[in-house]
Amino acid sequence: MMYGEWPVTEQQQHAPTPGLENLLSEERRFSPPPDLATHANATSDLYAWANADRPAFWAEQARQVLTWDKPFTQSLDWSNAPFATWFADGELNAAYNAVDRHVEAGHGDRVAIHFEGEPGDTRTLTYADLQREVSRAANALTALGVSTGDRVAVYLPMIPEAVITMLACARIGAPHSVVFGGFSAEALYSRILDAEAKVVVTADGGFRRGAAAALKPAVDEALDKGPTTVNHVLVVRRTGQDTAWTPGRDVWWHEVVDTASDQHTPVPVNAEHPLFILYTSGTTGKPKGILHTTGGYLTQAAFTHLNVFDLKPETDVYWCTADVGWITGHSYVTYGPLVNGATQVIYEGTPDTPDRGRWWSIIDKYKVSILYTAPTAIRSCMKWGEQWPDAHDLSSLRVLGSVGEPINPEAWMWYHRTIGGERAPIVDTWWQTETGAIMISPLPGGTTTKPGSAQVPLPGIAADVIDDETVSVPNGSGGYLVLTEPWPSMLRGIWGDPDRYVDTYWSRFKGIYFAGDGAKKDEDGDIWLLGRVDDVMNVSGHRLSTTEIESALVSHEWVAEAAVVGATDETTGQAVVAFVILRGDATGASLPADEVAAQLRAHVAKVIGPIAKPRQILVVPELPKTRSGKIMRRLLRDVAEHRVVGDATTLADSSVMDLIAAGLATPKA
Ligand code: WTA
Repeated sequence: MMYGEWPVTEQQQHAPTPGLENLLSEERRFSPPPDLATHANATSDLYAWANADRPAFWAEQARQVLTWDKPFTQSLDWSNAPFATWFADGELNAAYNAVDRHVEAGHGDRVAIHFEGEPGDTRTLTYADLQREVSRAANALTALGVSTGDRVAVYLPMIPEAVITMLACARIGAPHSVVFGGFSAEALYSRILDAEAKVVVTADGGFRRGAAAALKPAVDEALDKGPTTVNHVLVVRRTGQDTAWTPGRDVWWHEVVDTASDQHTPVPVNAEHPLFILYTSGTTGKPKGILHTTGGYLTQAAFTHLNVFDLKPETDVYWCTADVGWITGHSYVTYGPLVNGATQVIYEGTPDTPDRGRWWSIIDKYKVSILYTAPTAIRSCMKWGEQWPDAHDLSSLRVLGSVGEPINPEAWMWYHRTIGGERAPIVDTWWQTETGAIMISPLPGGTTTKPGSAQVPLPGIAADVIDDETVSVPNGSGGYLVLTEPWPSMLRGIWGDPDRYVDTYWSRFKGIYFAGDGAKKDEDGDIWLLGRVDDVMNVSGHRLSTTEIESALVSHEWVAEAAVVGATDETTGQAVVAFVILRGDATGASLPADEVAAQLRAHVAKVIGPIAKPRQILVVPELPKTRSGKIMRRLLRDVAEHRVVGDATTLADSSVMDLIAAGLATPKA
């Protein structure tokens, strides 16, 4: 199978290829295990039902998976496209759905969260415990001046308080904006400003790689950068590190939350009331605040969690390894599982602390039955070797999930054999921050899976692969992945910027949602994701923007110009490789290249966060540009991936590539 008909754009040609060639043979297909085929939550007839009347299908799901304070009478309203509303005249509360109603139904003693701290400390929270904790936190936030509609920034490690805080916000109808703890003070500051947050919830620090890592100093630094709308910083004591304190502004969690009343009445909000903002990288330098609302988002998060993972809340132990700083942590740690009354594991630290068997020991210890993780983690574990998982009993696992980037067939097979014991079906789930919930995925009881393919849109979801002319490509061909019908958990916009929402997602193909991914349909019509076709990179399943990193680099006084590309990387999927031209008069221009690189990497970590640090920084005398001045990233990617440099004839100065490729990495004097 070749990629012959691939539309020719520079990124698409270089999208990571999952190696389709030898994978479409019969022996590389896996039927659902017989017990799942007969007892799965989702059956194949869901597709036909949903297709017959999508809005009616979703309305039925919304009634089944959620409890409404005021029942809705309308499903989808698409009359103001691309601005959708779902269930718009209904009212509900997200925290009530995630917590209280399970207690009321007699499940107060069911474990909601098995927390495992990195140092080995543990904490068990039942649904009744969670109800008390969330109520206390809601009362404390109210006392700190947070009202319905106010925004709360959350900058926490993976500890129960992260989930408690999100639910406490939801309980009073205050949209949360969770900022991943690995982002820098500067990134936090810009997100606080954009959302006009009133309170920041943080911790003194968290445990990572065997040590306490501080978090609060980044909040202090962010709030020192300039005036903000923040009145209070609520601080969880996790590590016991010394923490600078601003009296009046800073308050300890154990002083104001633990002492607050554990009685609180959830505030019913309209289905379209904002539930959260989550910032994600786009093709420009400025991250976008993706806005999700309440009713539609929760419907699809819960529906997909129940059906894609075949959750049986009474017996399953579910574990999603994502941090709440990402959308996966929102939909498949906080909202989906808790709305479904699941028992889940939350783990604070890294997979290799104290040793490379930590994940497998957690699965063994809690008898985890459903595991949801990212290909990059699977590839790391593959590299570490089978002896680590083999030393533990993983026989409790019955469904495995993958998310965040294309899973290469080798990693899929390793996951299937070594982790799933050739028993557990793998669901390769494609979706985005913007889609809010899973969109394309096998159903574990109904789909014959193929290693490396996300395969089919879920019931109620319409996706297609189209060409430049907006024409659906035939089976066997590639193009752009689009979503052709609105869905309940779709983003409702970009915070404060409705025009950017329309431009970014609905303009490339008029009236159709363009996801930014390239994809291919195989001979059966199954979808294979091939990576981003825009200037967004996917490093270890994290979205990073080339432009954002370029801006960070040129903000350093030594740098005159920068170009960033995502180069294929065996473990992280893609890796950031930067090419920089130094200013002739800069101090750096006289330093050795590796010293320059080290300084610039540290600078990127400071501006954006350690996750954005380039793997490699090459100091070059020139950048390859077309006559119109556009940087030809394709050629740089060839260099970064150690390939023969492609066609350079459209360059304004074709000798540039010779200079770069010949290793003339000396700065311009
Ligand atoms: C990529 C993460 C291939 C894709 C939930 C998408 C995937 C971006 C898959 C969204 C998958 C996510 N196969 N690629 N199963 N899942 N992606 O917003 O490029 O952090 O556009 O959401 O990740 O990343 P985001």
